[in-house]
Amino acid sequence: MSGTPGRPARWPTKTEYAEAVQDPATAFAEPDLAGGVLDLNRLGMPRTSSGRNAVVFRLLGPRGACAVRCMTRAPAAGVLRYDALRRYLQGRACPALTPATWLEQGVQVGGTWWPVVLMPWVPGDTLDIALSRRLGEPRALRHLAANWRVALGQLARAGLGHGDLQHGNVLVDDELRLQLVDLDGVWVPTGHDWPRADAGHPDYRHPKEDGELHGVRLDAFPASVIFLSTLAVAADPGLWKLHTQENLIFRAADFARPHGTPLWDRLTRSPDPRVAALADRLATDCTRAPGQAGTPEELVSALHG
Ligand SMILES: Nc1ncnc2c1ncn2[C@@H]1O[C@H](COP(=O)(O)OP(=O)(O)O)[C@@H](O)[C@H]1O
Ligand SMILES: [Mg+2]
Repeated sequence: MSGTPGRPARWPTKTEYAEAVQDPATAFAEPDLAGGVLDLNRLGMPRTSSGRNAVVFRLLGPRGACAVRCMTRAPAAGVLRYDALRRYLQGRACPALTPATWLEQGVQVGGTWWPVVLMPWVPGDTLDIALSRRLGEPRALRHLAANWRVALGQLARAGLGHGDLQHGNVLVDDELRLQLVDLDGVWVPTGHDWPRADAGHPDYRHPKEDGELHGVRLDAFPASVIFLSTLAVAADPGLWKLHTQENLIFRAADFARPHGTPLWDRLTRSPDPRVAALADRLATDCTRAPGQAGTPEELVSALHG
């Protein structure tokens, strides 16, 4: 699936990358990376963050701390998408989206060069950790929900879609500022609807979403799931018992049965009446076509309408 002549079909594993990067001078071609200092854990091994498709290393270079994202499988239209995004963002502002550069000759593993995505290192916690650290702090959580609307507004104004909104791709700093990472599924208005690797995380995606949705409405449903979940937990911290490593509070089974699972009942009885009203809108969205789901902005304006 690499599609690149001279490269094995199988991409390196996370462990193979972790072994290779221990010596940045030989692992990286880019001079700032080759001369950089890798973050190590207490055992002296590279400190890693990872998801389903990549492992990320923190490296201190002359321009500050950066994230070196090494992929364990080929992202759909990787170089095309990242290059298009970088060009599109020249002269446009979208601070919520972390800038990313695709380096074709990124990291050397066992004598073969593999691409990496290079980003500034974003300090903070992933959204699930950020929420779990603030249970019982409703003001902070409502502030976070408001900042989420701001970040989504930036994305919409820039005309971009993230394509994979879920807790692991949202970083939250101590000031509750939000940054989006993992841009493998970003939609850029270039005229190309490059395929998406998948339809997004099942515990965030619309129940009828099949990966064919493109364009700026791509994020509407998962963005609303995150917005509503944050406000719901602010009002009723006990909901957090529904959190697993995979979700915030909603599961795919809830989207498949709008108003038909215990979570919907509990949201209807939320101490915050806005949560009940937003949940009702989201349940309705589950029954519509994915492209007709409301954004958080539309859900909120419907409350006042
Ligand atoms: N620029 C970054 N700064 C800090 N941490 C990052 C950055 N990019 C990714 N991460 C961390 O690495 C994890 C995995 O990266 P991600 O790009 O989401 O890979 P995957 O495609 O495997 O989900 C993220 O959940 C996040 O914790
Ligand atoms: Mg991710």
